[in-house]
Amino acid sequence: MQRVKIWDSFVRLSHWLMVVLLVAMWWTADNDYMEWHLRLAPLLGGLLISRLVWGLVGSQSARFSYFLGGPKAVLQHLREFKNGHYQPSNSHNAAGGWAVMLILLLLLAQFVSGLFAADGYFYEGPLAARIGSDAAELMTDIHQIVFDVLVVAVVLHLIAIVVYKLRGVSLVAAMLHGYRHNVGAVPLRNGLIGIALAAVAAFALFVWIN
Ligand code: HEM
Ligand code: HEM
Repeated sequence: MQRVKIWDSFVRLSHWLMVVLLVAMWWTADNDYMEWHLRLAPLLGGLLISRLVWGLVGSQSARFSYFLGGPKAVLQHLREFKNGHYQPSNSHNAAGGWAVMLILLLLLAQFVSGLFAADGYFYEGPLAARIGSDAAELMTDIHQIVFDVLVVAVVLHLIAIVVYKLRGVSLVAAMLHGYRHNVGAVPLRNGLIGIALAAVAAFALFVWIN
């Protein structure tokens, strides 16, 4: 069986770090460790921004133009999946690609609203003071609502992964080691470039936010 590397190290590392950081961001806000909320936010922000840039100029399998298809492609994928004819590809499938995009955009909305949010006591994002307390309150509400939507999206993400597994398609292993069997070769960039980009972005955000 031909074994093809489809996910570079940056895509894999950023995925699993984002998982850990999302849980940590919820935990720190919920347990009054806001100083840590603001310390960890730059890391998640740096990963997120660099993943979005990687979606434009990174490895082919990670590019939005490669895995986002029109309604026809999505319907065809869903039909094939229903009929049991779906063969895993060398990137996200046509439906999963949009789910990925949705999660990335929700994370971005969460991050940006956080920059304007304020807890009303000691902690606030670096832009909260600039917009006045009413607008900051609104952004704080948005920060809370987007988080709830994000949780729903992540639960659906996990349900989808289980449904694929039940149909014999294992997606998790490739997100761990990067390889998938019997798919077409896909040119990858050196993931270290993405990791370096994320580190620089996270450092810049840290200096700004803290
Ligand atoms: C992108 C990742 C982020 C996640 C997942 C996240 C998550 C959360 C959650 C779950 C809460 C508690 C909301 C509630 O009270 O129900 C919260 C509150 C807060 N976050 Fe974030 N946050 C993120 C990014 C940021 C950023 C970038 C900043 C600012 C630089 C920020 C600043 C705040 C502040 C000031 C609060 C307190 C608001 C309040 O009292 O409700 N967050 N965040
Ligand atoms: C907790 C929050 C989670 C978030 C925010 C999240 C977000 C994402 C994102 C943005 C991608 C696209 C990766 C990329 O192209 O860079 C993705 C893909 C993926 N995630 Fe998650 N994820 C989460 C949890 C998990 C968990 C717990 C698992 C496994 C048990 C998982 C398994 C996967 C797999 C297998 C893919 C690749 C799907 C495919 O092959 O098309 N995710 N996830």
